Amino acid sequence: MRDPDAALDELFETAAAARAKAYAPYSRFRVGAAARGAGGAIFRGANVENASYPVGVCAEAVALAAMALAGERRLVEIAVVGEAGTLTTPCGACRQRILEFAGDGDPVVHVMGPDGTRLAFSARALLPHAFGPAAFGR
Ligand code: THU
Repeated sequence: MRDPDAALDELFETAAAARAKAYAPYSRFRVGAAARGAGGAIFRGANVENASYPVGVCAEAVALAAMALAGERRLVEIAVVGEAGTLTTPCGACRQRILEFAGDGDPVVHVMGPDGTRLAFSARALLPHAFGPAAFGR
């Protein structure tokens, strides 16, 4: 059986490695994300900014797109790592993206507190009364 601590270490390490690949020349705020699907595979992402600022994409969006592209439709947990000393929780749009792949579950959102301690949140608690796939009977 998988050691849950080791599995979470791997998720955070993958997010941190992805963060190193971030393209964030404008904000200089690099973010990495690692999403674990129901099949057990991990999909990573980093923020990719653009000279036309709103065109940039968040780390979570990139990781979830990679997950979807691989055919995975169910998110179990996602780790997000921003700049050291900051609490980087997913933005509002990414909370919506996370719930898109929640199915009938509640993905765990792992983040790092400013002091480096790990925190875990329920995706449904991060976006209460959310609009979602249920509106389309899904
Ligand atoms: N950002 C993410 O990639 N994920 C988050 O959870 C918060 C913000 C990015 C967007 C932008 O490239 C930079 O961080 C500063 O907002």
